[in-house]
Amino acid sequence: MARLKIDFAAPALPKQGTLVLFVGDDLALPALGKAKWPAEFEAAFKKAATAENFKGKPKSTLVLAAPAGLDADRVVIVGTGAVEDRAKADPVMLGGAVMGALGKGKAATVLLVGPKGFNTTPDAAANVALGMRLRAYKFDRYKSKKDDDAPKGDLTITLGVADPAAAKKVWAAESGVADGVILARDLVNEPPNVLYPAEFGRRAAELEKLGVDVEILDGKKLEKIGMRALLGVGQGSERDSRVAIMRWNGAKKGSKDKPVAFIGKGVCFDTGGISIKPAGGMEDMKGDMAGAACVVGLMHALAARKAKVDAIGVIGLVENMPDGNAQRPGDIVTSLSGQTIEIINTDAEGRLVLADVLWYTKDRFKPQFMIDLATLTGAIMVALGQENAGLFSNNDELAERLIKAGLETGEHVWRMPLGPSYDKMIDSKFADMKNTGGRFGGSITAAQFLKRFVEEVPWAHLDIAGTAMGSPSSDVNQSWSSGWGVRLLDRLVRDHYEAE
Ligand code: BES
Ligand code: MN
Ligand code: ZN
Repeated sequence: MARLKIDFAAPALPKQGTLVLFVGDDLALPALGKAKWPAEFEAAFKKAATAENFKGKPKSTLVLAAPAGLDADRVVIVGTGAVEDRAKADPVMLGGAVMGALGKGKAATVLLVGPKGFNTTPDAAANVALGMRLRAYKFDRYKSKKDDDAPKGDLTITLGVADPAAAKKVWAAESGVADGVILARDLVNEPPNVLYPAEFGRRAAELEKLGVDVEILDGKKLEKIGMRALLGVGQGSERDSRVAIMRWNGAKKGSKDKPVAFIGKGVCFDTGGISIKPAGGMEDMKGDMAGAACVVGLMHALAARKAKVDAIGVIGLVENMPDGNAQRPGDIVTSLSGQTIEIINTDAEGRLVLADVLWYTKDRFKPQFMIDLATLTGAIMVALGQENAGLFSNNDELAERLIKAGLETGEHVWRMPLGPSYDKMIDSKFADMKNTGGRFGGSITAAQFLKRFVEEVPWAHLDIAGTAMGSPSSDVNQSWSSGWGVRLLDRLVRDHYEAE
């Protein structure tokens, strides 16, 4: 992927490359301080706007190549609509839309000035940059012939803002979040022959460069600890299972706050095991580790921006394969918690992995809350489609905070029910519980299963099967994998769990 370099400077007309500017529905060119727009350019713009029926609607664009009166090679004029629309515009989405309109040049200058009501604060500028980074992402590592239409070499973007120093400061933190999202996307997009549990563990260990403590538990160690529910899932695979524990200690020394904990399902490939999946679309199950990828991306973001919080990430890494040694339907396993589980369907494996990781995290770290992310059920896509992740929680305050962070970041969550009558559906004839609850309420019975391993700890479960992969293209993502959840959870931490 061509590299993107982003910088901030005082607004000025560029000598070359693409110039991006914003106009409202009145089509007035933004004020340039002491400088004036050349009359030829104003005339060319008016003529082009009429010819193209450009009305300055939000995110509509008008492109002028070789613009009269300017040194720039190209001008992209982006609409911001009426005054009411302008304040509502999300700078991240706007940055994405701008990136999408940039084309092939090597340099672009984006003038974040003008129309009244348009958000041009340092925060907004950094968020525009974030949207641009996310939109520019492309996973082409395994393409031997690169796309001819893509810009060659690096692309340098200069954001023209009133207070460049302040914008740079916000961007220093925000770029860490962008890197976290991109890291999560990369992990999900990687093929399963490359990214198996041990390799995933090594990628997680790279966070040590940012000051994160990383501990990797291999199969032997997991056996000793007693994570038999997790190990049962991986026992049909040639690839040894792993659990990776990441710790970011960003709170002040002596802080009495308990750590926050994030747990991820990391099924590096899910064939379904002996209850094997149909062949069509099975390749998508390389993304069944998106929950774990999100946790790694989030830990990257928190460490990169030096978040003032103690955060723990724990991910369960396995491969679910059919084999002579694979787990059978009918097997009964004893989980780390001591509770026994009858395996009904070996394709309901994510909850078995999470059961042990949740219990382990609760026991060892005594966190103030646990949030797990998992591509857990196909049923959540039937219920909510790809617009919302399913949210299940035993704690209203935590649930409300997640819903709010979702609205702020555009990573939306929708709360689903839990209750004793659903819980009954996973009682087993032979063991303490079974790993499936039948066809009805499939996402809910999966969440009820997890709930049996968190006891009284405030907990939220995010079923991200619909949002993490196979994502529809958007202003901020053109890739198969979205990196969903990194921005949501980073925002949750910022809004509520960081010391001043
Ligand atoms: N990883 C799948 C869920 C999934 C399906 C994620 C499609 C993303 C896209 C999970 O392990 C699974 O197979 N769940 C089963 C559960 C069933 C056997 C109770 C499902 O949803 O069908
Ligand atoms: Mn499965
Ligand atoms: Zn799965």
